[in-house]
Parts: sequence; structure tokens; C-alpha cells
Amino acid sequence: MLSVRLDELSIVHLRNIRSARIEPCPRFNVISGRNGMGKSNLIEGIYLLGALRSFRTAVRGELLMYGEERARVTGLFGDAAAGIRCEMTWTRGERTVTVDGKDVTATGMHFQMLPMVLFHPAMMDIVQGGPEIRRRFLDRAMFQADGRYPSIYRAYQRVLANRNRLLRDGRSDQRALAPFDTQLADAGSRMVSMRAEFVDQMQPFFKDAAERISEGGVAEMTYRPSIRGAQEEYARVLADKAGVDRERRFTTAGPHADDLVFLMEGHAARRYASQGQQRTLVLAAKIAETRALADCTGRIPLLLFDDVSSELDRDRNRHLFAFLQSMGGQVFITTTHRDYIHIDEHRADYSVVDGTFIPG
Ligand SMILES: Nc1ncnc2c1ncn2[C@@H]1O[C@H](COP(=O)(O)OP(=O)(O)O)[C@@H](O)[C@H]1O
Ligand SMILES: [Mg+2]
Repeated sequence: MLSVRLDELSIVHLRNIRSARIEPCPRFNVISGRNGMGKSNLIEGIYLLGALRSFRTAVRGELLMYGEERARVTGLFGDAAAGIRCEMTWTRGERTVTVDGKDVTATGMHFQMLPMVLFHPAMMDIVQGGPEIRRRFLDRAMFQADGRYPSIYRAYQRVLANRNRLLRDGRSDQRALAPFDTQLADAGSRMVSMRAEFVDQMQPFFKDAAERISEGGVAEMTYRPSIRGAQEEYARVLADKAGVDRERRFTTAGPHADDLVFLMEGHAARRYASQGQQRTLVLAAKIAETRALADCTGRIPLLLFDDVSSELDRDRNRHLFAFLQSMGGQVFITTTHRDYIHIDEHRADYSVVDGTFIPG
């Protein structure tokens, strides 16, 4: 299978990176440097090209180097994304993304074209943390897995905000809510079925990975939608809950309140899993995401691992590197100690000091 491969990357004024230009190797790119040197900033720059947003901030101004007005990230891609030149430029106020010189609209095709899987230390909370972390994990994968998802997701968020405004302002008799409920049920029921389908796709990969890592442990992920069913059934549940929604002054059920539950040996991992088991589940979830996305998009996603091996113990690191070897595709991996990275072949090393990247 072809992979998303970044052949050339150039960055100007992204955080502490004044100017960088690297030609990554097709397989393993290991970026090492002390804390605060700019490793995550580089990963953030690459991720911006695929996700069109940062994984660390929703405030674009924060991504501008102090004292600068304009920033730019440019990527030239090869292999599955051959010939694609993607560029994002931004100021405090606006942002432009182009692919081959044409403006990119926030439709699904962009995310499917450049699938990327990111793993960074905050994701260790995916099991233990609140449901919003798991919804974000699922949604981010869905944006890339299914070209219809981004616009349905946006439609849902828009109607939800409008409905919530009515509820908050107390202008929420049935007549006022009805038109919103129809739209909400339409977008919401589709989101739920698409999410359920994708979780089904991840499931075998997830079980398999967890079993290998934990040497026989049985793990499972279960999608728990707060409203099930097709549009009509969804609308009925929504209507049933209207009283509660009015009382609490917001929409209490729907995809924005769903959860993805991890189970270990049949028990809720959030409550019962040990630290080690949780690490197993997190790693297995990222492996499952990668494999399912490869199936959905027909290309191996670009893999971004930011400082992860310091979070995993020796055994799980071994599994991580075995997975990366077998998956193929291009990998960017950052570390404070390059000898943590047990990869010998097809490897290019970079060191970073104060936002400057030096090969070798
Ligand atoms: N907008 C900005 N302008 C300039 N420097 C920034 C900006 N935002 C963050 N930084 C700097 O970037 C550095 C952190 O980079 P980061 O990539 O997170 O480090 P690490 O190598 O530990 O991953 C810090 O020194 C921080 O001060
Ligand atoms: Mg970092």
C-alpha cells in the first residue's frame, strides 16, 4: 500500500522555528533535542498540513513566532500523495490553505488525502480522562476516514448551538424547537451510525494489538451513543428528552455526549485497569486507528509520535517499534534521547537547538 510521504517541509515563523527546511527520509525521521528546543513545534507544523488545525491550541496567534506577523508551513508530498504541494499561511487574523495553489475548503477530501495519526503524551489520558478526550480521538479519526463526516459534523454543531441558545434563553416551546430537532436528528443519527461503523472497523485491530502487547489480555472498545437509531427514532428520543433539556437549559443527549468505552477483561478500563494496562490500551487504540484509516483511505497515514517512548515502558516500546516496522509508511518521532529509539535501518536523525534543525 502506498503511504502519505512528506518529501520536503519548510517552515517560517512557527513558534520558535524562525526558518527550517528539511527533506525527510521515506521511513524513520528521529528528531532529538532537549526540552523546549522545538521538537513538538515541528510535529505541530506537519500536523497543521493534514488537520488544518493545531493539536495544542485553538488560538492561531499563539502559533506565530513572537513579534512576527505572518507564518507559513509548506509540504511537498510523494508516494500516495504524489506531487501534492500543501501550504498554510496565517496571520493573527486569518489563515489560508492551498493545495497546488488552489484554496482548500474545509470539506472532507483534504483530510482523506493526507491522513495523519498523531500520538503525544497527553493522549495517555484517553482511557482515564473524560469522555471528551475519547470523542476527540474518534472525531479526528472520522474526519479522515469518511469524506462525508466533516460537513455532517459541522452541520450538527451549528444546529446544536442554535438549539442550545433557545433553551438557554427559555424560548423553547415545542414549536420553536421542532425545526431544529428535525435537522439535529438528521445530522446526529448519521454521525452516530458513521462512528459506530468506524469503531467496528477499528475493533479487530484493537483486540489484536492489545492481545499482543499484553500477552493474551482480552480488550475491547465499545461505542456508547446516547441516542441510537435512524432519524425518526432519534427524533423521537430527542422529543422525549425535551422536558429535561428545558429544565437544564441545554441539549443533554446526542453525539456531543457520547462515549467510547474501553474494556479490559470485560471491565471498564477507566475504573479498573492498572497503569500498565492503560498504556496497553492507549497504544492499541493508536495502532487500531492507523490500520483502520489505512483501510478507509487506501493509504498508510503519516505517523507522528511526539515524545511517546518516554511515556511507555520497555516492553511497550518494543511493541511500538515492531508495529512501526511492520506498518511501513513514514514516521516522525521526537525524543530527548535518541538511543531510546530502537530503530537501526532507514533512519534519518535530526537534532534541534532553539528551533534550528540540523541533520545528523
Ligand atoms: N509563539 C511563540 N514564539 C516563539 N517561541 C515560542 C512560541 N510559542 C512557544 N515558543 C517556544 O517554543 C519552545 C517549546 O517548543 P516545543 O517544541 O514545545 O519544545 P520541545 O522540544 O520540548 O517539544 C519554548 O521554548 C517556547 O518558549
Ligand atoms: Mg515537546
